[in-house]
Amino acid sequence: MNNYVHGYSEKESTRLHDQASTLDELLHFDSIFPKNSKILEAGCGVASQTKIIAPKNPLCHFTSIDISETSLKIAKKLIHSLKIDNVVFQKGNIFKLNFDTESFDHIFICFVLEHLPNPIQALHSLKKILKKGGTITVIEGDHGSAYFYPNSLAAQKAINCQVELQAMHGGNALIGREIYPLLYQAGFSDCIVSPRMVYVDSSKPNLVEGFIKNTFTAMIEGVEKDALQKSLISKQEWDKGIKDLYRTTEKDGVFCYTFFKGKAINK
Ligand SMILES: C[S@@+](CC[C@H](N)C(=O)[O-])C[C@H]1O[C@@H](n2cnc3c(N)ncnc32)[C@H](O)[C@@H]1O
Repeated sequence: MNNYVHGYSEKESTRLHDQASTLDELLHFDSIFPKNSKILEAGCGVASQTKIIAPKNPLCHFTSIDISETSLKIAKKLIHSLKIDNVVFQKGNIFKLNFDTESFDHIFICFVLEHLPNPIQALHSLKKILKKGGTITVIEGDHGSAYFYPNSLAAQKAINCQVELQAMHGGNALIGREIYPLLYQAGFSDCIVSPRMVYVDSSKPNLVEGFIKNTFTAMIEGVEKDALQKSLISKQEWDKGIKDLYRTTEKDGVFCYTFFKGKAINK
């Protein structure tokens, strides 16, 4: 997948794991499915979410697919090393799924739609292989939900570079707010969206490290080269923006971000 804005580097793989471990409880305290469910995880990447949701549902059967063989290789190794035995991995493209119609009880898709130029088409494709009465879970962030103390125009500009670059790659870093309309437009029913806000101040040192530094700022820092090459921002303003994001990790700093978790039914 050439247009994936974050790329497939080892650093990005570490970031995805940091993100998942930090947000484990917030995003997945309710990722519990009826026993014996057949679940498709679409776009599993390096299994950052798989390693959390599969052990939470030991009596369910997971099929985790991704378009990237490199990620699948890492994912398989990790799940094997953790002795998780209810997951099978397959190479697969969400737009050309190789499964019988109505073959899954549940579809799980996290941090994938934001990278696709046509998320509704992806949801249509996934709906075909979901049983009638089956459910779908979609999790996405929304960079418009990032605000912090001390406030900084340069930091907001650096974040906007990521939003613009993702849009140039055909994605949407502001997709969290669209989960509800997207699910309805794709023909799902009874959609419920639950916003999951991450609030961080220095009384939560794990989140300061795991979320502000290793998840969010690491992601913004990852687009520096692209942002400067495309002249979206000056080097001076970029450096100030990143410095100001780190400034929010100090004793009096605060950082807020909201993820959105949607669940809907294929009626
Ligand atoms: C940001 S990663 C998220 C990985 C994982 N879900 C997580 O939350 O850590 C997005 C993943 O979607 C995969 N992907 C993108 N387009 C895809 C497609 N058409 N079919 C299957 N996987 C796709 C990418 O290869 C990448 O591994």
